[in-house]
Amino acid sequence: MSMRIGIHDLSLATAGYVLDLNDLAAATGVDPDKFRIGLGQDQMSVPGLDEDIVTMGAAAALPILERHGRDSIRTLMFATESGIDQSKSAAVFAHALLGLPDTCRAVELKQACYAATAAMQAALGIVARNPEETVLVIASDIARYEVDTAAEPTQGAGAVAFLIAADPALVEIEPIVGVHTADVSDFWRPNDSATAVVDGKLSIDAYLDGLTAAWDDFRARGGVDIAEIERFCHHQPFTRMAAKAHRRMAEHTGTELGVELYETSTVYNRRMGNSYTASLYAGLAALLDFDDDLAGRRIGFVSYGSGSVTEIFTGVVSAEYREFRRQAETAARLDGRVPVSVERYRALHSGGAVSSAADVEIPVETDGPFHFTGIRHRARQYRA
Ligand code: HMG
Repeated sequence: MSMRIGIHDLSLATAGYVLDLNDLAAATGVDPDKFRIGLGQDQMSVPGLDEDIVTMGAAAALPILERHGRDSIRTLMFATESGIDQSKSAAVFAHALLGLPDTCRAVELKQACYAATAAMQAALGIVARNPEETVLVIASDIARYEVDTAAEPTQGAGAVAFLIAADPALVEIEPIVGVHTADVSDFWRPNDSATAVVDGKLSIDAYLDGLTAAWDDFRARGGVDIAEIERFCHHQPFTRMAAKAHRRMAEHTGTELGVELYETSTVYNRRMGNSYTASLYAGLAALLDFDDDLAGRRIGFVSYGSGSVTEIFTGVVSAEYREFRRQAETAARLDGRVPVSVERYRALHSGGAVSSAADVEIPVETDGPFHFTGIRHRARQYRA
């Protein structure tokens, strides 16, 4: 019998500020139902100037290290599309802030929202070869579009960290996957731009086409029948997208799939907004925290990253997952965000890209455990 490997612990963090989308609707003259119902979003997290993917990612990982220690971690993989340097990985900064052992590799992975799933697959392989090791995966992103565009209400920020280990306490990841890559110009962020370029309608079609193609590959590889998948976790740039993905899955497989099979996975994303690489795993966090009937059940995951790569995989939830719920921890992080006005959010939006040309000190303004403190000799500085 092959070894069980999968997600042993999982933790979510987000930015220090929050914008209510009713306020954005009022300021931009849009019916608030378009955001709440049409997009399925209530709020979006907004980073302070002392926050970035490193501070959020390290904040997500910290509780995992407090619970399991640092000694078994020999790999840290950081998935993001909001990179802070073209050369040095965010993983090395996070490694230092988290006090991980020197005897640890650290690397960053990128393919839009998909990269955390690639990190997870690599981690599963590492643990299969060396079952006494664990791999820490951090997915952390800031979703930023131009203001006054249709994409503005689908911004957000957040991070999920998870530990891949043998004999996992939460979810065993199964080996059969379906994958699909297609070169599509639906969404990207050029090197000289702080905001993403997006063709919204094309991006939705590209996601749904990726889903059908990856599902066909999943089945061709011997993946389970749709009837054997009892919950779904879809990538959620906005939570109505999960509804669209779910409907496509039902149509494509010729089955009826009720909304109750995925709806619980939207609880955190509705409040955080798009967190790109973290979004799918924030969906899993919500399922584990709020679905009481997951023991032994199989979850189907649809991981999509624009550009585009899609991967469908499955995982079986452990019998004892309810002992490891993180509702209180996550509620504290979401409830602890400080509300900001549209005016303040827009000021933070344009202040988010700090030039490395001159030294600058960034004052601490948010409550998280880690802070970006500015630029010295062209290098980014952080403090715990
Ligand atoms: P839009 O122009 O706001 O679209 O852009 P819309 O006018 O079609 O409205 C959206 C929905 O709201 C529609 O429902 C309307 O009917 C409804 P649908 O047709 O979808 O069922 N609506 C209302 N509902 C209730 N009451 C009302 C009302 N008014 C309208 N009064 C779009 C929406 C998502 C395109 C835009 O926000 C955007 O471009 N967002 C960014 C791109 C994105 O998130 N794409 C998703 C797929 S790509 C992906 O997932 C990858 C990504 O995460 C990046 C990565 O991989 O790195 C983005």
